[in-house]
Amino acid sequence: MRKVNFTETVLRDANQSLIATRLPYSKFEPILETIDRAGYYSAEVWGGATFDVCLRYLQEDPWDRLRKIRAKMPNTKLQMLLRGQNILGYKHYPDDVVRKFVEHSIKNGIDIIRIFDALNDVRNLQVAVEETVKRGGHASGTICFTTSPVHTLEKNVQMVKELKEMGVKSICIKDMAGIMGPKESYDLVSAIKDAVPELPVVIHTHCTTGLAFMTCLKGVEAGADVIDTAISSFSGGTAQPATETLAYALRSLGYQVDLDDKALIEIADFFKTVRAGFIKDGTLNPISMATDTQCLNYQIPGGMLSNLISQLKMMNALDKLDQALAETPKVRADLGYPPLVTPTSQMVGSQAVQNVLAGERYKVVGKEIKAYCRGEYGRTPAPIDPAIQKKILGNTPVVEGRFADTLEPEFEKTKKELGATAKSDEDVLSYIAFPQVAMAFFKDREAGFPKKEEAPAAKAEAPRKVETAPIPAWQGHVYYANVPAPASAGYSVRPIQPFAASYQPPHLVMGGNDCTGNFTVTIDGKAFQVTVEKAGGPAAPAAAAPVPAAPAPAPAPAPAAPAAAPAPAPAAAPAAPAAAPAAGETAVNSPMPGNVFKVECKPGQPVQAGDVLVVLEAMKMEIEVSAPVSGTVKSVAAAVGTAVNTDDLLVVLG
Ligand code: CO
Repeated sequence: MRKVNFTETVLRDANQSLIATRLPYSKFEPILETIDRAGYYSAEVWGGATFDVCLRYLQEDPWDRLRKIRAKMPNTKLQMLLRGQNILGYKHYPDDVVRKFVEHSIKNGIDIIRIFDALNDVRNLQVAVEETVKRGGHASGTICFTTSPVHTLEKNVQMVKELKEMGVKSICIKDMAGIMGPKESYDLVSAIKDAVPELPVVIHTHCTTGLAFMTCLKGVEAGADVIDTAISSFSGGTAQPATETLAYALRSLGYQVDLDDKALIEIADFFKTVRAGFIKDGTLNPISMATDTQCLNYQIPGGMLSNLISQLKMMNALDKLDQALAETPKVRADLGYPPLVTPTSQMVGSQAVQNVLAGERYKVVGKEIKAYCRGEYGRTPAPIDPAIQKKILGNTPVVEGRFADTLEPEFEKTKKELGATAKSDEDVLSYIAFPQVAMAFFKDREAGFPKKEEAPAAKAEAPRKVETAPIPAWQGHVYYANVPAPASAGYSVRPIQPFAASYQPPHLVMGGNDCTGNFTVTIDGKAFQVTVEKAGGPAAPAAAAPVPAAPAPAPAPAPAAPAAAPAPAPAAAPAAPAAAPAAGETAVNSPMPGNVFKVECKPGQPVQAGDVLVVLEAMKMEIEVSAPVSGTVKSVAAAVGTAVNTDDLLVVLG
């Protein structure tokens, strides 16, 4: 009888997918011992977003969480997700940091590290795998599943062989979007088993499209050894398929499943109660648990589709959705078929929207896409279209070799800089991974964790534009559309765009002149306190204390950044006071609607053509606006935190 092993994801991926990782340690502590004796092969408990969310929202030291779990679960292998050279984020870290992170993860209790790279560039896995092996951990080499003309079985098999050479102890097929069907699963597992029969194969997928149960079953039939599942009460939708269901089905088909059913019932009951709490406070949106087949129709992940829609809505260009959908696969092909996983999914989607809105392909290009074309993310699955790469990069040189080789060691330097602020090497690593968030956490910890508002649900920053006077409480739905300027002293606030349940806007974006202050908004009968700041106010909204506890984060990171300005907010663009260019002067205008993220020049400063003057933030991307000519900065109209429209004046050069 062939044995099938189970990895329980309730504490990490299911927690992340359904409730944006908002489960505090205190809430799940009582069930850890039961999970430990349920007979799981491993429990995924750490990595991914748990680290960031612990520091940012839960007043928990992620390392401390790991140690506590380890103490309560001595018998089950603890597993984490690691993004190779990017550790837990999206930028590449130097090798010394990657090594330290792996070392301390294992030291604090991790047994299995699942290591992946968004581009499947094995060079970005190498250091993490090496260090895991060196520290006695189990490195699970991971393939990000995607489909494209260049992602053939042969290519995947080649990658698996390279991973084996590196010393991985298992191979994981990671289908982050739930787009792998039973046939692909069967074929891919068979090919891997043929190539490296000695390595266990793990299947990781999501229920988003409803394929997951079939995908797991066919994968097991083809020889998969481990499947990722979530306890039933935290399963389905954007999370993993249910543990009990697959255990039942596989057993009845004659496979050996060593799970203790009584323990599973206890765990399921426990999380049923937990789930009820998160449904009640709006953190768990029932939509996250539903099946959504749209991504099968469009061949793009669900989260990416809702991003495209919300971006277009922000630009008042929802009528261009079909064009953007048609443009997306073209952009992906131009860029060498990156797997559509964060962050490449956002980058490809945003670029498709840019290409459609600008009316010229690659006229407006984000900083991330530039970095990608330079090779900063790694080797692309197929070459980037040379003409497009040239258009995007100009004379900027391409990175030869592995990007991390160009980075200076960072750990010891940072440790010295932090001094007594860091109480341990783990603190230093927290800081390197999430500098601002970790620093705020250290301060709170020092102060004994001053009580924060009891609302760990998805928090949005308060919008950072508009001026004067509080507006009274108002009732009605909140849309992330703009609010028109008030007629006079009285405030008329009305929503512009209809609320689409699938967007779950966590941000209230305000326009108009007179909306500063604290006020209450009511979303679906639930009141939220919101603070709106004055235009050009502090970039870090220190005063913007109570923020809307908006309903559910949901699968898709909903609309773009809080202040990514809705197009029709005429009064909200305080770019007005700047002097218009006189004869002989050059106006540098905004290429698109967005939010001023950084101003990198001041009046009187000489600049060269191509120097970055202003960085806009639009559609989750940083867009650099460069000087078209050399000269001197005459005036700067752009103010950090304010909204700008296409052709709004940013800078005048003389
Ligand atoms: Co996942």
